[in-house]
Amino acid sequence: MLSWEEFEEKEVKPVKAETQEKKAEPAPQPQEEQVEQPKVALQTGSLSDRLERAKKAVADFDKQTGEEALQGMGSRVDVDQKAMINCRADVNQLVPFKYDWAWQKYLDGCANHWMPQEINMTPDVALWKNEDGLSDDERKIVMRSLGFFSTADSLVANNLVLSIYRHITNPECRQYLLRQSFEEAIHTHAYQYIIQSLGMDEAELFNMYREVPSVARKASWALDFTKELDDPNFVTGEAKQDKKLLRNLIAFYCVLEGIFFYCGFTQILSMGRRNKMTGTSEQFQYILRDESMHLNFGIDMINQIKLENPHLWDEEMQDQAAGMILQGMELEIEYARDTMPRGVLGMNASMMEEYLNYIANRRLVQLGLPEEFPKAENPFPWMSEIMDLRKEKNFFETRVIEYQTGGALNWD
Ligand SMILES: [Fe+2]
Ligand SMILES: [Fe+2]
Repeated sequence: MLSWEEFEEKEVKPVKAETQEKKAEPAPQPQEEQVEQPKVALQTGSLSDRLERAKKAVADFDKQTGEEALQGMGSRVDVDQKAMINCRADVNQLVPFKYDWAWQKYLDGCANHWMPQEINMTPDVALWKNEDGLSDDERKIVMRSLGFFSTADSLVANNLVLSIYRHITNPECRQYLLRQSFEEAIHTHAYQYIIQSLGMDEAELFNMYREVPSVARKASWALDFTKELDDPNFVTGEAKQDKKLLRNLIAFYCVLEGIFFYCGFTQILSMGRRNKMTGTSEQFQYILRDESMHLNFGIDMINQIKLENPHLWDEEMQDQAAGMILQGMELEIEYARDTMPRGVLGMNASMMEEYLNYIANRRLVQLGLPEEFPKAENPFPWMSEIMDLRKEKNFFETRVIEYQTGGALNWD
C-alpha cells in the first residue's frame, strides 16, 4: 500500500503534467501569470515539507489582523440593538432573538420540508400522453403554468440572494431568507421535474418568460424592481435608497409571490380537484403552502421595517405601494384572460378577476392600506382552506411523520 506521501506524489504530478501537455501548444502568457505563488509552493516538496510550512504559517499567523476583523463585527449583541435594516450589531450572533416570528417561520419551514421526487407522477404521464386525456384549453393551462413558474421561482431566488439578503441586517430574518432560498430551489426543481416527467419541450417552457407576452410582462415587471438592488454598489442608509428596498420587498413578496402565483395555482389545483394531473397538483399544493409562508414572512418583514422607520412610509410611498398592488392585479387579470379564453375547469376569466380583486384587497389590508374592492368576494373558498393557518399548523404537525414515511397529501 502507498503511503499518503507516495500517493500524493503519484496522483498529483501526472495530472499536472497532463494539463500542461494539453495546454503546451498555445502557451498563452496570461495563463502563466495566473499561477499564484502560494499554490506552486504548496504543491512542491514532500508531504512532511508541506506540513512543516503549514505549521510555520499557523505559528506566524498575524493574530492582530484576525482580532481586528472580529472587532469589526462589534461586541456582544443586546436585543435592543437589533434592527431589520441599517443595523450595526453583529449579524453573526443569532441570539438573543428580537423577532420571534421570524425564527418560528424558519422552524415551520423546516417542518414543512419536502422533495419533488416523493410525489408520484405516473398518472400525470399517462394522462398527458393520452391524446384524449385533456382538452386543448386544459393543456394550455398546464403549459402556461409550467412556463411561468419554471422561471418565476428563479427570479425570486436570485432576488433574495443577490438583492435582499445583504440589506436585511437581522440574523433571525436572514436565517429564514436562507431557508426560503432553498425552498425556491426546490420549487424550481419541482417544475423541472414535472416538465421532464411529462416529456415536454424544455426550451419552449423555460423561454416562455421571455417569449409569451402574458408571462413575459409579469417577469419584466418584477425584474424592474431588482435591477438597482443587485448592483454591488447599492447601499441602504438614506431614505431614498431604503425606499427602493421597500419597493423591492413589496414587488417580490406582495405582488410576485402574493398575486402573480394565484391564477396558475388556482387553475392547477382545480385540475387536481377534478382528478386530473394529480401529481402536478400535489407538487403545486406543497409549493402553495411554502409560498403562503413566504408571503406572510415578507409582509411581517415589510411591516416591521415600516414600524422601525416610519419616515419611509410616507404618503408618497403608501400611494406607490397601493399602485403596485393594483398593477400586479391587472397583469394577473391579463394572464387569466390569456390562459382562459373561455370557461374551463369550472372557472373563467371573470371569476378569476373577482378572485384577484379579493386577493388585492387582502394584500392592501396586510400592508395597512385601505381595500379598493369592498364588494369583492372569494369565488374559490377552497383555495383559502388550503392556505388556512390552522390547517397549515395541522399540516406542519403531521408533515414530519408523513415526510419520514413518504406519505401524500389528501384532497378535500
Ligand atoms: Fe417559490
Ligand atoms: Fe416563494
